[in-house]
Amino acid sequence: SQRKEIDDTLATFALSPTQLQEVKAKMRVELERGLKKDSHPTASVKMLPTYVYRTPDGTERGKYLALDLGGTNFRVLVVKIRTGMRNSVRMYNKIYAIPLEIMQGTGEELFDLIVQCISDFLDYMGMKNTRLPLGFTFSFPCNQTGIDKGDLVSWTKGFKATDCEGYDVVDMLREAIKRRNEFDLDIVAIVNDTVGTMMTCAYEDPKCQIGLIAGTGSNVCYMEEMNNIEFVEGDEGQMCVNTEWGGFGENDNTEDIRTRYDREVDGGSLNPGKQRFEKMTSGMYLGEIVRQILIDLTKRGLLFRGRITERLKTKGIFETKFLSQIERYKKKELRSILQSLGLDSTCDDSIIVKEVCGAVSRRAAQLCGAGMAAVVDKIRENRGLDHLEITVGVDGTLYKLHPHFSTILKDTVRELAPNCKVDFILSEDGSGKGAALITAVIDKYLYAMR
Ligand code: BG6
Ligand code: GLC
Repeated sequence: SQRKEIDDTLATFALSPTQLQEVKAKMRVELERGLKKDSHPTASVKMLPTYVYRTPDGTERGKYLALDLGGTNFRVLVVKIRTGMRNSVRMYNKIYAIPLEIMQGTGEELFDLIVQCISDFLDYMGMKNTRLPLGFTFSFPCNQTGIDKGDLVSWTKGFKATDCEGYDVVDMLREAIKRRNEFDLDIVAIVNDTVGTMMTCAYEDPKCQIGLIAGTGSNVCYMEEMNNIEFVEGDEGQMCVNTEWGGFGENDNTEDIRTRYDREVDGGSLNPGKQRFEKMTSGMYLGEIVRQILIDLTKRGLLFRGRITERLKTKGIFETKFLSQIERYKKKELRSILQSLGLDSTCDDSIIVKEVCGAVSRRAAQLCGAGMAAVVDKIRENRGLDHLEITVGVDGTLYKLHPHFSTILKDTVRELAPNCKVDFILSEDGSGKGAALITAVIDKYLYAMR
């Protein structure tokens, strides 16, 4: 029957407890491979060093500029941190749009636009003549050799500007500032958004030693023991590692759980074959998976009276926001939200669409949970503990807007890492604050050296 056909299709998205255990185990293997000198250069989970050695302790102070590029919004911020007490941070920020032509144009155009936005922001704040230290949250994989040095490994998500991959991001920004020849800045740190988020949250909760982004992209960072990071000099203390877990599966070890819809989404993306885990777990791709399933069900005459509309053929129509709404809404409202998307549906149709969304987002949350279980168990074993209590700082529209994602994620972590008590706290202030805190830590250090 038709019902059975639909159920069978959605069943390919259901993961059994055994399958989830396997995902956790495989993620653990990849985390280890990324940390070893021999396997690091080719690892699917890149395990990039960040040169952030500790979380804030509340003694940070000063006034900083921050940039936040790579999520839904590009922001320029000024962050003022008063000394002594926590919760004494003031922020002013402005959001700027980055048009698609620039995201996928030339590197020079992209960095010129960034500098133009900084210029506008400094005018707006009346700060053109104050040379502030700057922390740059740049939410892409960077091969860092210092806190202010990082070569872009490859663009991910919706970016594909030319002549950037393989080049130092800080250099590209400095050169663009020179080209404009209007103001000077000290670029002190380049920071992944996971790291900025961890720092933002750790400022409030010292137990926070993991940063998670479930947004446009999907990624995690955490505090690792220096002696486990084979390719970085030094054995003392800890360093935050940017896992880039979105690349998990690039060595074909998750093919058993990928569906034909995942392969179609991958094939139609800017980076086919890459970021396979990200494409099953993050906001930029979940809607596309849903759309591929709906097209298929329609072709098979199980939906929309068998009629594939132009709308349904349009890439990117289901944003995270819509997925979240569809899963939150009741029967009546469902039809109207589909209508607003240009999809004329019957009552039955709208219920099927909701089931499809549910299957896709549930799998995403479970996969993130399985990955997180691998990370917390690794930290627990690093420290030789039977039981670990730890906090994860989280940001991202998927986590924040979706009605079930966070609950399923937490349930999965609890089931798969029973020896860890994992708390999740939401980053309210974005990762720019964290970038400023990192900049403040360095500033303090430089000051002490003088
Ligand atoms: C923001 C952070 O709050 O969340 C960014 O400041 C981050 O650094 C972003 O990239 C992630 O969420 P999304 O959904 O915008 O990709
Ligand atoms: C992508 C990027 C990664 C970032 C994540 C979340 O996976 O490669 O650096 O942290 O998106 O924005």
